[in-house]
Amino acid sequence: MIDPFGRAISYLRVSVTDRCDFRCTYCMSEHMTFLPKRDLLTLEELDRLCTAFVRRGVRKLRLTGGEPLVRRGMMDLVRALGRHLDSSALDELTLTTNGSQLARFAGDLFAAGVRRINVSLDTLDPELFRRVTRWGDLDRVLAGIDAAQAAGLSVKINTVALRGTNEDELADMVQWAHGRGFDITFIETMPMGDIEGDRTDQYLPLSLVRARFSQRYRLDDIPHKTGGPARYVRAAETGGRIGFITPLTHNFCEGCNRVRLTCTGTLYMCLGQEDAADLRAPLRASTDDSLLDAAIDEAIARKPKGHDFVIARDRSQGAMPRHMSVTGG
Ligand code: GTP
Ligand code: 5AD
Ligand code: SF4
Repeated sequence: MIDPFGRAISYLRVSVTDRCDFRCTYCMSEHMTFLPKRDLLTLEELDRLCTAFVRRGVRKLRLTGGEPLVRRGMMDLVRALGRHLDSSALDELTLTTNGSQLARFAGDLFAAGVRRINVSLDTLDPELFRRVTRWGDLDRVLAGIDAAQAAGLSVKINTVALRGTNEDELADMVQWAHGRGFDITFIETMPMGDIEGDRTDQYLPLSLVRARFSQRYRLDDIPHKTGGPARYVRAAETGGRIGFITPLTHNFCEGCNRVRLTCTGTLYMCLGQEDAADLRAPLRASTDDSLLDAAIDEAIARKPKGHDFVIARDRSQGAMPRHMSVTGG
């Protein structure tokens, strides 16, 4: 699948549920309204959709949410999709998770063919963790990370940099992650969905974070990996990698290789654009996949050049009404 800007689309991110057992303050409001369960595609339908994308050239699948591991029967989907690894139709099947259910599922994930996971972790302070997630238990997430490592999964940590919240702790998190052999990626808050409050209060530019790190570490640039939004550096003192995702710059749109599918069968061609294609209707219209394949091709032909995010005091500008949990980041 090649889009109008000559980019090959080889990566599908799938939000298997918009639900989550946490309510991170930058992501959701405390009283978030989730989609009615009847609107969700079944796991079999999600499998059929993912398989259609694999047939059309997707080589990497990432299951996200919300929290993917809170969806009932989720491991059945992971196991089913694992067959594409066995047939070498897929290079990677992976997950982005908040870690709360990992202690239970790490072994099963590895057995299904998952080898790497990204775990969202914004602080190592239990009290602050509770505040950011609104009620999450840090020890439980850390136990999940231990279980993932013990099961043989490699772990990347995702940390959203939050002004006045975890800002003073970020260098220590690098030390912790690298000490355990994990890459760590920092993310700027993106203006997605209503969160009760003003995002400009939380926004911490990563240029500042990087400047602070460079007082503690020598940071060597690592050539850009294809397609991903993160810019990586290596800290000479630890040997580990640090990624920076600065969504308000456009530095990764040019090489974008991904599209996003929601749990209701809507395909978003860009995280920061509203344009979407409905794949549920062609999916349900027939058991033959030709309508679905045509709808996918038509959607890829509309993939926009880049996103329109702006962090502005005036929230009507540059913000997306949709939450990250709907499209899975
Ligand atoms: P790997 O490169 O495979 O490790 O994964 P990733 O960084 O693409 O995935 P992950 O789920 O860890 O996402 C990390 C953050 O990057 C999330 O906050 C995503 O929303 C953000 N992100 C991923 N893709 C894009 C993109 O195309 N545009 C923007 N603006 N942000 C993205
Ligand atoms: N801005 C930036 N990152 C966000 N995430 C969720 N919502 C936002 C937002 N509005 C992060 C999560 C997770 C990743 C998939 O996206 O913390 O690490
Ligand atoms: Fe859940 Fe992730 Fe959103 Fe936190 S950031 S509420 S863990 S989906």
